[in-house]
Amino acid sequence: MDPAIFGGGVTVTGAVQITNAINDDHRRLRQRFMQALNGRAVASQEHILQHYAAQFIEGIRKELKSSGGTVDIAKWFSLATFDVIADLAFGRPFGNLERGELHSWVAVVFGAFKALPFLRVIRELPGMLFIGSHASFLLPRKLKQMWRDHFNYAFSLIDERLKNPKERKDFVYYLIHDDGEGLTHDEIKECAAQMVMAGSEPTATFLSGLCYFLTRNQAVYEKVKEEIRTVFHCEEEMTLINLSQLKYFHAVVREGLRMFPPAADIFPRIIPEGGETILGKYLPEGTRVGIAALAASYSKSNFDNPDVFDPSRWLGDDEFKDKRMRASQPFGQGHRSCLGKVLATAEIRLLLANLLWHFEIELAPGQENWLSNCRTFLGWEKPPLMLQMTLQQAF
Ligand code: HEM
Repeated sequence: MDPAIFGGGVTVTGAVQITNAINDDHRRLRQRFMQALNGRAVASQEHILQHYAAQFIEGIRKELKSSGGTVDIAKWFSLATFDVIADLAFGRPFGNLERGELHSWVAVVFGAFKALPFLRVIRELPGMLFIGSHASFLLPRKLKQMWRDHFNYAFSLIDERLKNPKERKDFVYYLIHDDGEGLTHDEIKECAAQMVMAGSEPTATFLSGLCYFLTRNQAVYEKVKEEIRTVFHCEEEMTLINLSQLKYFHAVVREGLRMFPPAADIFPRIIPEGGETILGKYLPEGTRVGIAALAASYSKSNFDNPDVFDPSRWLGDDEFKDKRMRASQPFGQGHRSCLGKVLATAEIRLLLANLLWHFEIELAPGQENWLSNCRTFLGWEKPPLMLQMTLQQAF
């Protein structure tokens, strides 16, 4: 992995974070995080996810009454994913969904996703190499201050949470461990603050993009809505296990991840000592290599009619019956692949299924070009996505 991508090795406390840790440190941190984010851990946190999914629906329902039927669904997805990750990372609710307002941290998260690629480019400029991980001095002062505030606030919450580490089964519970292999307090602080970034924006951005594609493809929207409303008779039935059985729903999410991969940038690897031959071409050590998710998704050599939102390409017993389809890897691959895949999938399924079960959705007038107004950095910068919504199920 290229540590430069996530801002070099400098952290507030000096302790490592999961994204810039290397070798043994990375292995140790990753093993711990796998305990906190594997299928069993996420299943044990389902009640937390269900709680926020219910608040998400309730919040939209209230806003619809005052807004005359139009809501910015991108905002509601951000509120929900932020509440979930903040609860799991810091062990206490943040109440963003209840208030219906984005926490100031969300701006920091978006600022960070936008700033990191610039820093990466700056470091590559001839003569700028000496700047190394200190290139952040080039960032706007306001953003740096927000960044520091974010970390300081996060650290104070973790200090509080660490007073009783075994209190509940959130991230701290799994990360602390008493077997000598756990994380230090500073590492937990750094990683928790970072987790709020890695664990909120990509999932919210993806769900917004998926809603856009659904509302632009009426036949797909009708089909997935029918599947959900036929299978589930009440919201309590929409459990993670039950949702995992829905074939077309799964295909819709998979196709969404192909057409709107939230981590749109390249996550490079560095060729190790001695060099490497890739696709018949020798690359010397130190070369950065990587795949751009968007380019892989929209290449005709990987997908037939790549511009068409067609979930049926993912149907069938073998998802990868056509080997070229492996080109779409929205969560990355290998020992740096996304640690939050199971959690993200659970959140996506719960929020989307609840949305489609409770509401009719369509694009509000003037939103047809929403996708062309999105810009990619490390993730996506997106404008609000206004949907016209009507409530389907009586509470
Ligand atoms: C749809 C949502 C998400 C997508 C598409 C996504 C995608 C990615 C990608 C592409 C990477 C880089 C992989 C690489 O370098 O090969 C990554 C890394 C990571 N993601 Fe996610 N992510 C999502 C949600 C989450 C969530 C919810 C969490 C946390 C709870 C999370 C935590 C992480 C962490 C910790 C890493 C760094 C792993 C490491 O360096 O070992 N992600 N993610």
